[in-house]
Order: sequence, then structure tokens, then C-alpha cells
Amino acid sequence: MSHLIAPSILAADFGNLQREIEMLNKSEADYIHVDVMDGVLVPNISFGMPVIEAITRHATKPLDVHLMIVQPERYLATFQSLGAANITVHLEACTHLHRTIQEIKSLGCTAGVALNPHTSIQLLKDIIGDLDMVCLMSVNPGFGGQKFIEHTYSRVEELKALIIETGATAKIEIDGGVSIQNASQLLEYGADILVAGNFVFSSKNPTETINKLKNIV
Ligand code: DX5
Ligand code: ZN
Repeated sequence: MSHLIAPSILAADFGNLQREIEMLNKSEADYIHVDVMDGVLVPNISFGMPVIEAITRHATKPLDVHLMIVQPERYLATFQSLGAANITVHLEACTHLHRTIQEIKSLGCTAGVALNPHTSIQLLKDIIGDLDMVCLMSVNPGFGGQKFIEHTYSRVEELKALIIETGATAKIEIDGGVSIQNASQLLEYGADILVAGNFVFSSKNPTETINKLKNIV
């Protein structure tokens, strides 16, 4: 499978949201990555339901919803009804992770788990077989535009080994500080999905930037 690109709408111009989404629709992006932050799990608040509803109204690409919120199980059905194709919850936010993953799947969405940069990959050992996606945070979650943490490479390698060892099918997504500088290396280590916010939306030609990330061989 060739890798997938998920531009993060957090870095878009919210004054021109429809235009930004139409740009993504026409690009080679595979997903629209949607960052929901509650100011509790992470030290920032992004946006909530009305904005996601507006994104869905214009988007032709599937929404990859990254929930950086405590007790995400309270809102799974809401995010599904707002148009989420994939829902990712943080391992750090879920006491009953297995139950939460099953709930996401029963809603008809694919299910992902995100790990903060310090959270051990081995904590996934008993859940990896149930996951469609693992999102490795390559920055501390909460803000776009942060510097990529280099230690992520060895974490991708470790996660890839765990997936192979267990015969799991989960895709590896990398989120935070992704650019053309680190994308090839991440793919070599086994990444499947690259999230990119500022690198895409701050570039002169976002469509071309997405296409560059997509066409790395
Ligand atoms: C960070 C978010 C990321 C962020 C990525 O908490 O989860 O998805 O939007 O943005 P960049 O690519 O600018 O680091
Ligand atoms: Zn994200």
C-alpha cells in the first residue's frame, strides 16, 4: 500500500474554511485530519461540533478525527454522526480502552489510539490486534507548528515490529512536525499515514505540498 496523507485542518485559515476544504478535496490528500482539544487533556482548546459539522458539509475526503479530550467515550456517537470516518482516542485518556475501541467500531468508524511521545509502545501489546490505526505523537499534543521529536523514528520501528510480531493490521500514523525533511525516513521505518498541518498550510502552494508528500517513493 502506498502511504496516505492527512492534512491537519487546525493549521487552515478558519476565515476561509470552505475554500480550504475545497482545496483539500481537489488535492491528493487521503484524509482530513481534525484535531479536537478540550483544554484538559491538552493545554489548548481548538474547536468543537459546529466547526466539524461545517467541515463535513464541504468535505469529500474522509474525516480522521483526533480526540485530544478526556472521557472521549462520552462523545463517540456525536462525532460519528458529525461525519467522522476514523476516530482516534488517546491511550492516556481511556481507562477502558478496549470497550472504547469496540464502541467506535460498532458505530461503523475505524478506530485509532494515539500515544503521547513518552508513552510506552508496549502498552499496546494487548490491544494492537483490535486497532485500525495507531497515531504516534511526534510532538506533545496541543499545538500545531511544533518541532518534530527525533526519538519518534525508533518508536515507529518498535511499533512496526510489534505489529509484525502479532500479525496485526493497524496502520501507523505520525502526527506533529511532519515535513518533507522527515517524511521519507518515517516511511522507511514503517509509517503509513502522515499528518501535516503547518507544513502544508503555511506553504506557498498547499496543493503542491500535499502532492509532494504523497509522491515520496
Ligand atoms: C497536535 C495535533 C496535530 C497538529 C499537527 O496536537 O494533533 O495534528 O495539528 O500540526 P503540525 O503538522 O503543524 O505539527
Ligand atoms: Zn492530530
